[in-house]
Amino acid sequence: MKLVFFGDIVGKPGRRAVGIVLGALRAAERVDFVVANAENSAGGIGVDPGSARELFASGIDVLTSGNHVWAKRQIVEYLADSDVLLRPANFAPSVPGWGYTVKARPGGEPVAVINLIGRVFMGAHDCPFRTVDSVLDSVRGRARVILVDMHAEATSEKVAMGWYLDGRVSVVVGSHTHVQTADERILPGGTAYLTDAGMCGPTNSVIGVSREGVLRRFLTQMPTRFEVADGPVAVQGVVVEVDDTTGKAKSIRRLQEIVEE
Ligand code: FE2
Repeated sequence: MKLVFFGDIVGKPGRRAVGIVLGALRAAERVDFVVANAENSAGGIGVDPGSARELFASGIDVLTSGNHVWAKRQIVEYLADSDVLLRPANFAPSVPGWGYTVKARPGGEPVAVINLIGRVFMGAHDCPFRTVDSVLDSVRGRARVILVDMHAEATSEKVAMGWYLDGRVSVVVGSHTHVQTADERILPGGTAYLTDAGMCGPTNSVIGVSREGVLRRFLTQMPTRFEVADGPVAVQGVVVEVDDTTGKAKSIRRLQEIVEE
């Protein structure tokens, strides 16, 4: 089966571009299951029910998130009822929503998606390593094909998670930095790995945000309003082919397309 993961979708330009690229990809090759990080899909910070629905309508099966998931208040209720928009599994156990899901596929193997958040330069979350162990216990017997989105700042923490899960899941892909790394590989145990998938957002920007505001903040250290940038949009992610019968990855390839405004 072929899985696609898109890096952090930034605002309306990102939502539009990801739909275009996914349509073109489906026209060119078989795509069986699509996951994307949506935590910046509404106005550049957070995700709201409207942006989530739009992304599902464009053909994404499961959305993951991270530190900005609560930025739009309307999402709290939506998350509590949704098994396809995830928040990190290692958030406090009492928070609304789910940190993983197992999605049945008509005529095919089910796919499990697990969303984790890092702790290095991030926040005082529960341990993502111990959390993923207990999530995998729950998933066992329900899905062989398993994708993990490790939403984290530090490359070291993401690399460590790749090794920790090697041979136990099909894909470990990082998100959050909005800058795609070039270290895609299949680890010895058969897990496809990429430190960061990158972003789906305006590329003439600072990680999707209009340059002027970001530079003003760096130069003055004063509070500044950030806006989603305009111009051409980068759509970045990864395509992984997985052997359905073993859950091991067969190939991994980075996606990097530019969609004109
Ligand atoms: Fe993030």
